[in-house]
Amino acid sequence: MCSSSRLTGKIILDFTLGIFFLLLALILATSFSKFPLVHPNGAVLITGASSGIGLSAAKHLQSQGFHVFAACRKEKDAQKLTNVGLNPLIIDVTKESTIDEAVLAVTRYVKTSGIPLVSIINNAGSTTKKPLETVDMRVVRQVFDVNVFGALEVTQKFLPLLRETVEAGGGARIVFIGSVSGIISLPLNGVYSMTKYSMEAMADTYRRELHKFGISVSMVNPAYVNTNFRQRGADTVKEDSLTLNEKRFYGKDFAHLEKKMNKRATFAATCCDVTDTAIANAVISAYPKTRYYPAVVAPHVPAWIVTPLIRSFGIFTMTDRILDSIIRMAF
Ligand SMILES: NC(=O)c1ccc[n+]([C@@H]2O[C@H](COP(=O)([O-])OP(=O)(O)OC[C@H]3O[C@@H](n4cnc5c(N)ncnc54)[C@H](OP(=O)(O)O)[C@@H]3O)[C@@H](O)[C@H]2O)c1
Repeated sequence: MCSSSRLTGKIILDFTLGIFFLLLALILATSFSKFPLVHPNGAVLITGASSGIGLSAAKHLQSQGFHVFAACRKEKDAQKLTNVGLNPLIIDVTKESTIDEAVLAVTRYVKTSGIPLVSIINNAGSTTKKPLETVDMRVVRQVFDVNVFGALEVTQKFLPLLRETVEAGGGARIVFIGSVSGIISLPLNGVYSMTKYSMEAMADTYRRELHKFGISVSMVNPAYVNTNFRQRGADTVKEDSLTLNEKRFYGKDFAHLEKKMNKRATFAATCCDVTDTAIANAVISAYPKTRYYPAVVAPHVPAWIVTPLIRSFGIFTMTDRILDSIIRMAF
C-alpha cells in the first residue's frame, strides 16, 4: 500500500518536472529568435517624428549611424527636422497620396545610394478621452485612421522595400509603437485602447506572416512618458467642450481623470531615453523582443513588471471581475 502510493507520488513528480522543463525549453527556444542583423548605416523611416517619442528616436537612431527619414505632417516641422540634421519626409498617415510620395522618395534614395531601407517605425498616434457612450463617431474614425489604418497602410506600402533588403541578404525590422493601453482599457480611454488593442493584433499577425521572410516585427508599448501626448488628451476633455450629458453622467470621472493626468506628469519618464533604448534594441539586436514595455505605470513601478501579470489575467474569464474591481478602486 505504502510503496504503491510512493510510486504514484513519484510518477506525479516526474510528470510535473517533465512538463516544467518542456515549458522552460519552449519559452527559451521561442523567446530568443535570432534575426539577421541590419545594415549598420541603413535607412530607417519613423512616422510622427515632429515631436516626443518619434523625434527623440529619430535623433537617437541617427546618432547610431542610421540614415533617418523623419516623417511629419507639416512643412514647418519638416524645416525644424532639417535644422537638427534629420531627413524629413511629409507623411500624414491618413492620406494615401502622402504615403505613396514618401515611398517614391525612399525608393529613389535606396536606388541612387545603394543604402537599403532596414526599418520602419510606426509611431504616429492620436487620442481622445471621452466615454464610449458619448464620443463622436467622427473622432473614433479619425483616431482609428491614424493609430490603426495608417500604421497598417504605411507598413503595407514600405514592405516591398524591406523585402528587397532581405532578398539582398540584409536584416529588416518593423516596429509598432503601441501602449500599455493596448493591454488594459481604463474608463474614458476606451477609443485609444481600442486602437492600441487592434495594433496588438496587427503586430502579432504581421510578425507571424513575415517570419518566413526573416523580417522581425516588434511592439514598443510605453507606459507614461512626458511628451505632448498628455496635453493632446487633456485638450479633448476641456470643460467647455463637454456636452450636458457628459457633465451629468461622467462629470466626476472627468474631474478624477484630470487629477490623475496631472499626477502622472510628476512620475512619468522623461522624454525619451527609455523608448529610445527599446526602439533601438528592436532595430539593432540580433534577438529583438516581440514586445518592450518601457517607462513606469505608477511611481517606481516599471511597466515590464506589471504587464505580464495583467496579460495573464486575460487568460481566465473569472479574473475579469477581479481586474474590474481593482480598476474601480484605482480609478
Ligand atoms: N507619451 C506617452 O506616455 C505614450 C505612452 C504610450 C504610447 N505612446 C505612443 O507614442 C506615440 C508617440 O506619441 P508621443 O508621446 O511622442 O506624443 P506626441 O509628441 O504628441 O507625438 C505624436 C506624433 O504623432 C503625429 N501624428 C498625429 N496624427 C498624425 C497623422 N495623421 N499622420 C502622421 N502623424 C501624425 C504627431 O504629428 P503632429 O505634430 O503633426 O500632430 C506627432 O508627431 C503614439 O503612438 C502614442 O500613442 C505615448
